[in-house]
Amino acid sequence: MRVMSSLTLSLFFSIICCSLTEKLSNTSSPNIIIMLMDDMGWGDLGVLGQPSKETPNLDAMAAQGMLFPNFYTANPLCSPSRAALLTGRLPVRNGFYTTNGHARNAYTPQEIVGGISKDEMLLPQIMKKKGYVSKIVGKWHLGHRPQYLPLKNGFDEWFGAPDCHFGPYNSSIRPNIPVYNNSEMLGRYYEEFKIDRKTGESNLTRMYLLEGVDFIRRQTEAQRPFFLYWAPDATHAPVYASKPFLGKSQRGRYGDAVMELDYSVGHILLWLKRLGIENDTFVFFTSDNGAALMSGPNEGKHYK
Ligand SMILES: *[C@@H]1O[C@H](CO)[C@@H](O)[C@H](O)[C@H]1NC(C)=O
Ligand SMILES: *[C@@H]1O[C@H](CO)[C@@H](O)[C@H](O)[C@H]1NC(C)=O
Ligand SMILES: *[C@@H]1O[C@H](CO)[C@@H](O)[C@H](O)[C@H]1NC(C)=O
Ligand SMILES: *[C@@H]1O[C@H](CO)[C@@H](O)[C@H](O)[C@H]1NC(C)=O
Ligand SMILES: *[C@@H]1O[C@H](CO)[C@@H](O)[C@H](O)[C@H]1NC(C)=O
Repeated sequence: MRVMSSLTLSLFFSIICCSLTEKLSNTSSPNIIIMLMDDMGWGDLGVLGQPSKETPNLDAMAAQGMLFPNFYTANPLCSPSRAALLTGRLPVRNGFYTTNGHARNAYTPQEIVGGISKDEMLLPQIMKKKGYVSKIVGKWHLGHRPQYLPLKNGFDEWFGAPDCHFGPYNSSIRPNIPVYNNSEMLGRYYEEFKIDRKTGESNLTRMYLLEGVDFIRRQTEAQRPFFLYWAPDATHAPVYASKPFLGKSQRGRYGDAVMELDYSVGHILLWLKRLGIENDTFVFFTSDNGAALMSGPNEGKHYK
């Protein structure tokens, strides 16, 4: 990860879809979806010049919404960037930051015991005051000890993992990273939640898609305004995709992962239309930092 920090760019892009140009029918409490990619590069989308044009849904979203090609993240590393997004505070203030030496909470593998301070005010905590229900789907990365987990920091629901899906680890030395459904640990990466390091096959993006759509449907039925923080990690090394996408892109395994994420974004936008809430929902799409060379040669061809 420390290697990654010097190889990633904090310059990124952001797309906002749908509602901005439309009149909101419920201006008091629009739904909010933030789709945060993991190590996805600025140049990975067709709309930003990627020549194989394998992101039709995101390109359409950019065409219909607003594109911010010079949107900066607060830090070129997962944890500080995510902490800044959720707190609105600079890494050096929110307690997650990088240094030239060992990073302070810059990421949270098993050995790191720190996490988000209870003094920080996170987006879901602010929105809760306005009656919002919040869910995080995917990677948290603001501390893996019980007091730092999402449900202790404003989120009502969570499906995903506290850390990166690095591994598999030798369990006699350190356990694999756990996957949670709310406060219940369902299993671990490479065990109950398979990622095949040889083929790159994993169903995690599909699970994250289904969890996101299920949440949107339930809140819409209950007529509650919602905040969905959708943070899949398929483009973070080791990159993965499900079978229908493996080998389908012109950009190796990495491109397959991008394709599946693009498909998932399209599917979520489609559900907003089906549920009739497309004009009451802000959808933001961005990445925690730029492309990581660690997702490199054996993972795909994206940086050649
Ligand atoms: C807008 O949403 C709020 C919060 O759920 C709700 O109280 C209000 O009745 C809604 N207004 C309209 C016009 O739907
Ligand atoms: C795990 O580590 C132990 C202790 O170093 C070693 O004996 C064992 O063979 C390792 N298992 C695997 C699957 O690498
Ligand atoms: C997650 O937990 C909720 C209840 O908290 C349950 O309704 C749901 O089925 C669970 N999902 C999975 C995938 O286990
Ligand atoms: C993904 O799910 C399919 C069934 O939908 C299953 O056949 C396949 O083994 C799963 N792959 C992994 C890596 O878990
Ligand atoms: C959303 O706005 C568009 C453009 O004004 C309109 O065509 C569409 O019917 C609206 N959808 C709903 C569910 O109100």
